[in-house]
Amino acid sequence: MFFSSQKRMNAEVAALLPQIMEFRHRLHRHPEIRYEEHWTSDRIAEYLAEAGITVKRGYAGGTGLIGEIGPDNSPVIALRADMDGLEIEEKTGLAYASEISGRMHACGHDGHMAMLCGAAAVVARHAKDLRCRVRFIFQPGEEMAAGGRRMVEEGVLDGVTAAFGMHGWPEFPEGTVYLRPGYAMAGADWFTITIQGKGCHGAAPEAGIDPIVIAAHVVLGLQTIVSREMSPCKPAVVSVGRIQAGTAANSIPDNATLSGTVRTLTPETQKKVRSAVERIATGTASSHRATASVQFDSNHYAPLYNDPKMCAFARRAIQNALGGEAFREADCPSMAAEDFAFYLRQTPGAFLWLGTRRPMGDTPGLHSPFFDFNDAALSAGIHTWLSLVGAYPETG
Ligand code: NI
Repeated sequence: MFFSSQKRMNAEVAALLPQIMEFRHRLHRHPEIRYEEHWTSDRIAEYLAEAGITVKRGYAGGTGLIGEIGPDNSPVIALRADMDGLEIEEKTGLAYASEISGRMHACGHDGHMAMLCGAAAVVARHAKDLRCRVRFIFQPGEEMAAGGRRMVEEGVLDGVTAAFGMHGWPEFPEGTVYLRPGYAMAGADWFTITIQGKGCHGAAPEAGIDPIVIAAHVVLGLQTIVSREMSPCKPAVVSVGRIQAGTAANSIPDNATLSGTVRTLTPETQKKVRSAVERIATGTASSHRATASVQFDSNHYAPLYNDPKMCAFARRAIQNALGGEAFREADCPSMAAEDFAFYLRQTPGAFLWLGTRRPMGDTPGLHSPFFDFNDAALSAGIHTWLSLVGAYPETG
C-alpha cells in the first residue's frame, strides 16, 4: 500500500496545506499568459527539484515541464496541471491580487499548479512505496492556445498508461469531485467569415452590395444550424461574438467580418457543424450578389472523451480515500472546451471537475475579474491526486 493508513495521509496533507496555500498565492500574484510562463515555470521546477523529483524542462516552446518519480518498468500514471493566466484586469482587491497589469489567474490555474505540487511533494516522500511511476505534467497555453496538443506532440505521454487532468469548477460544491464518463467537454472551433460586398453612398444602396445586411442574414442563418439541422440529442452551440463593418453612418462599407465559435461534443457533429457554417455563409452571400470566405482557426480543440473504465477506476479510488459523498457523476457535459482532450485522444484517462463553490455568498465564475481559486478546495484536490496514485494500477 502506498500509505500505511488514510489517517496518516490526512495528517500529512493537513500539515502541508499552509505552505501550498502560500505557494498558490505567490503564483496568483504573478500571472503569465500563453507561452510566457517563464517565472511560473522556474517556480514549479524549483518546487519539484526541492521535493526530490527529476525535472525535464523546455516543452511547448520552453515553459512546459514534467517531473517524474517511481520505480522503473512499472505502469506510468500522468497527472496534469495547466499554468497560464488570462488577459483580464483583476478586481478582487485581495492582498495577493495580481501584480501584473492586465493579467490575472482568472481560471484558477494557480490552484491547479499548487495542488499538483502539493501531491508531488507527498508522493516524493513515499516514493519507495510506489507501485507505479508518476509523471507530473505542467502545461502552458491552455487558454485558446492548445498547449496540450504541443505537449502531447512533443512526447510527454510516451510510456504513459493512464492520464488524468483536473479543473476547479465553481458550479459544484466545494471539495466534491465530479466526473462524466464518455464525451464530457466540447470541442471548440473559432471561425472568421469575411463578406465582400461593394461600398457606396448610404443614400444610394442600389449602387453597391451591402455587406452589413448580408452579415445580419448570416448571423440568423447560423442560428438555424443547431435548431434545424442537428438532433436535439446531439448538443452543439454556434455563437457569433464579434461583427465588424463600416466607419461612417452615411456610407455602406465594402466588407463585413464576423467571428465566432462552434462547440460540439463529438468529432462527427464537429465536422457537420463546421461544414454547415461554411455552406450558410457562402450560400447567403452569393444569394445577395456578394462573396464570403470562411476560415477556421487551426488552433481548434477536440471534444474531450473520458474513458469509462478509467472513470470507474477514479470513482473507486476517490471514494475509498475520501468517502462516498466526495464523488458525483455529473448530469450534463460542459460545452466549455479543454485541451486535455488531446491527451485523452492518445491515452485512456479522465478529466475531473473539482467543486469550488463556496458554501456562503457568491462564487464568481471562471474568467470573471472577481474570480479567485477557493483555497478550501485545495485539500480535496491534493487528496484526489494522491488517491489516484495510491490506487494505480488496480490489482485483482
Ligand atoms: Ni482553465
